[in-house]
Amino acid sequence: MSPADARYRRVIAVDGPAASGKGTLARRLAAHYGLPYLDTGLLYRMVARAVIDDGHDIRDADHAAAAVAALDGRSFPEEALRGREIGEAASVVAAMPAVRAGLIERQRRFAAQPGGAVLDGRDIGTVICPQAGAKLFVTATPEVRAARRHRELTGRGEPATFDAILADIRRRDARDSGRSDAPLKAAEDAVLLDTSALTIDEVLAAAIAIVEARRAG
Ligand code: CDP
Repeated sequence: MSPADARYRRVIAVDGPAASGKGTLARRLAAHYGLPYLDTGLLYRMVARAVIDDGHDIRDADHAAAAVAALDGRSFPEEALRGREIGEAASVVAAMPAVRAGLIERQRRFAAQPGGAVLDGRDIGTVICPQAGAKLFVTATPEVRAARRHRELTGRGEPATFDAILADIRRRDARDSGRSDAPLKAAEDAVLLDTSALTIDEVLAAAIAIVEARRAG
């Protein structure tokens, strides 16, 4: 194992599509192992928020790249990042190579903390931390994911129909999986975890068993 590999050995990479339950799982895993946690989707959401707040078209790659470079000087309240419109806009900027390239180093710096870290996203196991000691790819059917997102959004007072959210999820899946740079896909050595019929506690227990097996092996 090279020194670079050793640095990432205690990283837990959690990837998966929108509303698959990866964020909830990653947060619970981080609490269980006492590790720092990074929700990398928030980085793309911040870039999208900055482009929109500055009055630019979300498809404008130059302004999106400039927003990445200026990210350290800005802060956003979490409620400004979690909405439906920002999830969609985030997936537009996330397909831009300059945006992805500009966000790689900060994610790797976070991952390289001495005791390890938990990161969730789309490309943690494939691009950001291919040397992660444990990789999970979390999935659920589009209908189950839409129902979860529907509950989450209406719980926060953002009205939307189930059908509209299902359409969002299908569109985002297609964009995230179809882009040429770091598409959403499971790493070859990731373990697939289908959460469609599982409770959060069951998902956590299954994930801990996977991490322990990887660490033992
Ligand atoms: O919470 P949800 O799964 O809906 O979205 P998110 O994880 O906050 O990510 C929002 C968007 O950012 C995704 O649709 C992806 O296009 C993009 N993203 C990415 O490309 N790579 C990551 N590591 C994380 C998010």
